[in-house]
Amino acid sequence: MVFDDKLDSMKEAGVGPVVFPHTRHEELYQCEECHPSIFKDKRGANDMSMKANMDGQFCGTPACHDSIGAFPLYMCNKCHTNVKQP
Ligand code: HEC
Ligand code: HEC
Repeated sequence: MVFDDKLDSMKEAGVGPVVFPHTRHEELYQCEECHPSIFKDKRGANDMSMKANMDGQFCGTPACHDSIGAFPLYMCNKCHTNVKQP
């Protein structure tokens, strides 16, 4: 799945769309661990943003990309394509 609802803001920040590997997450977790409490199971139904992620919602939910179990939120290029190198 590719998330690019916030593309204008991403361009300003020098990052590209997010590639979310849904299948990989299905292999690692139960559907109910994400749906419906963290993510509504409908494309585009979640108003995701980096602020929300950093506030502990969506991808940044505790025990997700905010823990030793998964790469952290500062590794922009693990989620965003086309990250500009400084
Ligand atoms: C790690 C969290 C996670 C897990 C586990 C997960 N999903 Fe999802 N799922 C998502 C996200 C994120 C989206 C995209 C939501 C959006 O676009 O706002 C999504 C989207 C969906 C959609 C909507 C697809 C569409 O085209 O509208 C369905 C249906 C869905 N998931 C079903 C499942 C089922 C069934 C499982 C278990 C086999 C599962 N999900 C496991 C995170 C997860
Ligand atoms: C775990 C995955 C993940 C990581 C790591 C990540 N992001 Fe994001 N980011 C997302 C998702 C998901 C969205 C929402 C995408 C959408 O719905 O359009 C997003 C949205 C954004 C947006 C646009 C919306 C907004 O909030 O302005 C910017 C800019 C952004 N990210 C920058 C960054 C930067 C810079 C980093 C590294 C410091 C980073 N992201 C790391 C997943 C991630």
